[in-house]
Amino acid sequence: MPVLRMLQRVVGQMLQSPACGPRAAALPGRVLGTSPWQIPAVANCHSAFLSEADRPRILITDKLWGLGVGLAKLLRKQFGKDNVILSDIKKPSEQVFHSGPFIHSDVLDYKHLREIVVNHRITWLIHYSAVLSAVGEANVPLAKAVNITGVHNVLDVALEHNLRLFVPSTIGAFGPTSPRDPTPDLCIQRPRTIYGVSKVHAELMGEYYYHRYGLDFRCLRYPGIISADSEPGGGTTDYAVQIFHDAIKNGKFECNLKPSTRLPMMYIDDCLRATLEFMEAPIESLSSRTYNINAMSFCPEELAQEVLKHIPEFQITYNVDSVRQAIADSWPMNFDDSNARKDWGWKHYFDLPQLVMTMLSFIGSHSRVAKAN
Ligand SMILES: NC(=O)c1ccc[n+]([C@@H]2O[C@H](COP(=O)([O-])OP(=O)(O)OC[C@H]3O[C@@H](n4cnc5c(N)ncnc54)[C@H](O)[C@@H]3O)[C@@H](O)[C@H]2O)c1
Repeated sequence: MPVLRMLQRVVGQMLQSPACGPRAAALPGRVLGTSPWQIPAVANCHSAFLSEADRPRILITDKLWGLGVGLAKLLRKQFGKDNVILSDIKKPSEQVFHSGPFIHSDVLDYKHLREIVVNHRITWLIHYSAVLSAVGEANVPLAKAVNITGVHNVLDVALEHNLRLFVPSTIGAFGPTSPRDPTPDLCIQRPRTIYGVSKVHAELMGEYYYHRYGLDFRCLRYPGIISADSEPGGGTTDYAVQIFHDAIKNGKFECNLKPSTRLPMMYIDDCLRATLEFMEAPIESLSSRTYNINAMSFCPEELAQEVLKHIPEFQITYNVDSVRQAIADSWPMNFDDSNARKDWGWKHYFDLPQLVMTMLSFIGSHSRVAKAN
């Protein structure tokens, strides 16, 4: 079958590609204290060499097969399985449940959040729980509750217990009046979605808590994140994940954005590594609390061209969703992440060809296993 042959070729290419092979992760040192005012004398130690007492104890709020699971895996490798706790309001799969500590937590329940932080001696809080752009427009009250009240709760609990707090932001924090190509760290931010408004609110509140109280708040504005093992979560960049599943399953894909809709994107491995490196960055290297990060920028027709190189019979058609299109048309086309590169050494590894090769290979091998079973 041609699709399978193509996939075998992709896997072969991947094995030869240095970008996809094992890499020495050049991680900046970490700050040993949890307050921004405690700068260690030796900031460049590698976290893998930390004693158990110095390792952070981390709580991640998120869904069970999204960014949270991937980050938990990476952090558990770095800091030990029991030092990283995943949480959600949903029941975990067998696999997630047995892969390390899991706790039920509703970010709207402040007292319970506080109980978890105290009982598990948490020092880092990574707050991923959110209602994303398209889902948020369909349910504004839910988005307001989770994205605004939830953030107030994590800010307060982090301040109360002297935690280092990470809250991701997004390209959705910009709007039609922001410069779009490229979008710098600091510029007009007037988003028109509840998701974007709540993310700007989170950025500002976090920075306010940093300046006012010294909370070690850290925020990265992620571009669209592309991952093979997570379900799209109702975001405007979902098409760039779904295209690979449909290309492999059916050889065709119906895209809900126009062919020329350009958006910044990143492969999940780069995103998770950026998060760890940023969390470990010495405090004195940070000139800001909120940074753009980016890896590539493409539109649906360019992505389809790249898929075609591996699956020649692939076909893409367009059936534009007006809500998602309007959102995408107000977002950055390209993200200027020069400050992150300069301040704490951010560097991406995956460009468009490597991303496509990796996604097709991963999804292809999983669909072959599923068929064989
Ligand atoms: N995925 C991307 O492309 C992308 C891009 C930029 C920023 N981000 C940010 O990264 C974070 C994670 O994104 P994701 O794609 O994994 O999102 P997702 O929608 O897949 O997961 C968010 C999860 O939050 C959980 N949640 C909702 N209400 C909750 C509550 N009251 N208490 C506890 N948990 C609750 C849900 O279980 C949901 O699955 C979000 O903050 C998002 O804004 C993601």
